[in-house]
Amino acid sequence: MKKVLLLIFCINIIMQSQIFAKDFNIEYEIKKCQKCHGENFDKQVLSVTKKISSFSKKELIDAFEKYINSPNGGKAGLMKIIIKKYSKAEREQIADYIYKKNH
Ligand code: HEC
Repeated sequence: MKKVLLLIFCINIIMQSQIFAKDFNIEYEIKKCQKCHGENFDKQVLSVTKKISSFSKKELIDAFEKYINSPNGGKAGLMKIIIKKYSKAEREQIADYIYKKNH
């Protein structure tokens, strides 16, 4: 049951991403991240992530690259789906936004 709910949740996020894929609005995109990572990015998602509020801009970008280049599947597969739809420039904007919000 839990798995089914998680699947529905993921599909929902993917659908939302596709509908709005064309116009990139940083505030809007960040809200999606905050749903899982917390308003101030200090939540440990599913108890496995670090608090990304403490990451430097480079650490954030490196983490994004790691997901994009990783094989599919598992929890990391989830982040891959989320992050791979952004262009490099958009990912930099996201990293910049999260870093500046917390430093
Ligand atoms: C559906 C929930 C969800 C959403 C939405 C989400 N994330 Fe994640 N994020 C996760 C999970 C789960 C992991 C851990 C994956 C793993 O096992 O590596 C993670 C990991 C990360 C990490 C690495 C953390 C670490 O400990 O190394 C970063 C950075 C990150 N996410 C940034 C983002 C950004 C930026 C966004 C918005 C564009 C976002 N996430 C949206 C669930 C989410």
